[in-house]
Amino acid sequence: MRDVHICEVGPRDGLQNAKHLMPTEAKKRWITALAAAGLEEIEVGSFVPPKLIPAMADTAEIVTHARTIAGLKVVALAPNVKGFERARGAGAHKITFPVSASRKHSESNVRMTPEQMVEQVRQCAALRGKDGPEIEGAVSTAFGCTLQGAVPEADVLRLAVALAEFCDGVALADTVGYANPAQVKRLFSLVRKEIGSKLEGAHFHNTRGLGLANALAAYEEGVRAFDASMGGLGGCPFAPGASGNVITEDLVFMFEAMGLKTGIDLQKLFAARKLLEQAIPEEPIYGHTPLAGLPKGFRAAA
Ligand code: COA
Ligand code: ZN
Repeated sequence: MRDVHICEVGPRDGLQNAKHLMPTEAKKRWITALAAAGLEEIEVGSFVPPKLIPAMADTAEIVTHARTIAGLKVVALAPNVKGFERARGAGAHKITFPVSASRKHSESNVRMTPEQMVEQVRQCAALRGKDGPEIEGAVSTAFGCTLQGAVPEADVLRLAVALAEFCDGVALADTVGYANPAQVKRLFSLVRKEIGSKLEGAHFHNTRGLGLANALAAYEEGVRAFDASMGGLGGCPFAPGASGNVITEDLVFMFEAMGLKTGIDLQKLFAARKLLEQAIPEEPIYGHTPLAGLPKGFRAAA
């Protein structure tokens, strides 16, 4: 049993913002290595127009490959009904929809208002049928936005409540790395009061170095599902100034050192990082734990 669940979003959030394209075969090898390290959930890509984000053009093929890995939950992002249909057709187990609480980001990212985006997700939830994929509504820019500035908590709450009506789970995302731990505790607690256990995931970016602090704050607030990206890759191409996600290697180290089981083997995770480095060698990647190594006598959570 795992105490915390980490979803690796590097193949999606990471590669969508990378300057260098990762070849399809290298993506497959990387995803296989990530799963072998113990990641049980991987967001492998997005179903958006290939012209918009060429790095995601091969997502259907990547989903097909990821589905061959036993026990892996294959997640894909979709921005609309067309993306949902493509993701479902490819066989994604879970489909995540970005629903921005910031109007300006919503228009920049999906060319829809937040309300129009909620309607897209509602339609997808209605279309999926009994055996369809899991659906997650991710309230993005929930902690602030580089385009709009402050994002009222009431806007986040309203969207979370609307999405909880038909989504299996709702996540709060700090798309541009504005969140701080006090804010994280307050907002997760507020949203949980309204939607209870439908509130699942936390998605943090490390733009101002607070990724781990925010993840810990969310953990203390009862959150047990976290997105993270290997090497700290990541960022939304349609949110100026967005940079990498909370770093998987450091997040796993933090939880394991605290005695909380992630189910992830750090040495195998470092082996997967080697594949990432080899696949896009010019892309800067980050992470304290892989550079410093594990402390002498370190023991993973038992
Ligand atoms: N996958 C592939 N093609 C798609 C698509 C999808 N999910 N959604 C729309 N298209 C195609 C349409 O068929 C149409 O093609 P055509 O020009 O050949 O007729 C074209 O794209 C434009 O469609 P339209 O519905 O007008 O979309 P848009 O141009 O208003 O863009 C989104 C809206 C949502 C598709 C786009 O803004 C988007 O993909 N945003 C997500 C960006 C992202 O990935 N951000 C980072 C992750 S949060
Ligand atoms: Zn993100």
